[in-house]
Amino acid sequence: MGSISFRNVDKVFGQGTGGVKALDDINLDIADKEFVAIVGPSGCGKTTCLRMVAGFEAASAGSVLVNGRPVTAPGPDRAVVFQQFALFPWKTVRENIELGLRNKNLPVGERSDLVASALKLMNLETHVDAFPHQLSGGMQQRVAIARAYVLDPEVLLMDEPFGALDAQTRVVMQEELVRLARHNPRTVLFITHAVEEAVYLADRVAIMTRRPGRIKEVLDIKAVREREKWDSHARIEDVMDLESFVHLRTHIWKSLREEKGFKDV
Ligand SMILES: Nc1ncnc2c1ncn2[C@@H]1O[C@H](COP(=O)(O)OP(=O)(O)O)[C@@H](O)[C@H]1O
Ligand SMILES: [Mg+2]
Repeated sequence: MGSISFRNVDKVFGQGTGGVKALDDINLDIADKEFVAIVGPSGCGKTTCLRMVAGFEAASAGSVLVNGRPVTAPGPDRAVVFQQFALFPWKTVRENIELGLRNKNLPVGERSDLVASALKLMNLETHVDAFPHQLSGGMQQRVAIARAYVLDPEVLLMDEPFGALDAQTRVVMQEELVRLARHNPRTVLFITHAVEEAVYLADRVAIMTRRPGRIKEVLDIKAVREREKWDSHARIEDVMDLESFVHLRTHIWKSLREEKGFKDV
């Protein structure tokens, strides 16, 4: 099980008059195995939301729950994938993936089986002994995702994981994540500011206001996907042309544009 709940969550950084309110009364329930994307203006508090679920940051008010229990610290039930792949440069692909398992005290055989299946899952089998600097950005991010998956976490937290990739690699990774998410469902909290990416990947999309971030609206993409019979294996460019997809995308862009300061970049 891997449900996530934000209950009346505020976050203030700093204190007194120097304090900055980053999040204001966030309420959001993510069901077990649901894929929710959060989109919102830069600085609205998306990363802060994710860091609170990860256990890196505490709420100033309200509570963040995983499986109904307040989050107090990081734990093996939650894995994080960042935009900057955060691999260890002096370790090989295999060693980087194994690192996720270092606290688990598994028998060697079991550990190598888990690593082998994560390598297979992310099509990394031909690169097991390579070092990160020998890999493209896309391959490095595959390693980071494999490292998260090898833990078999209930909750996968992804903070703009494809933000640093070139457009073509990004599309390949989006399609692979869809495949992964449909075949091996996990609870996913996915942060992005790419509207199409959110609509393509997620079951629901939460739109945030600018700072102090609030949840402005939550769209049920899965309902549309099922009603309109989007092929779950379709390529992104084929889905993007569908009227129902265009409608959702336009709706989100309008909602983002309504935010004061939209033009200030
Ligand atoms: N550790 C921190 N100390 C002070 N302010 C912070 C800290 N982390 C984030 N903030 C501020 O909180 C706001 C939200 O940040 P963040 O969650 O990173 O936004 P986003 O991911 O949506 O761009 C921003 O104004 C940011 O400057
Ligand atoms: Mg961020």
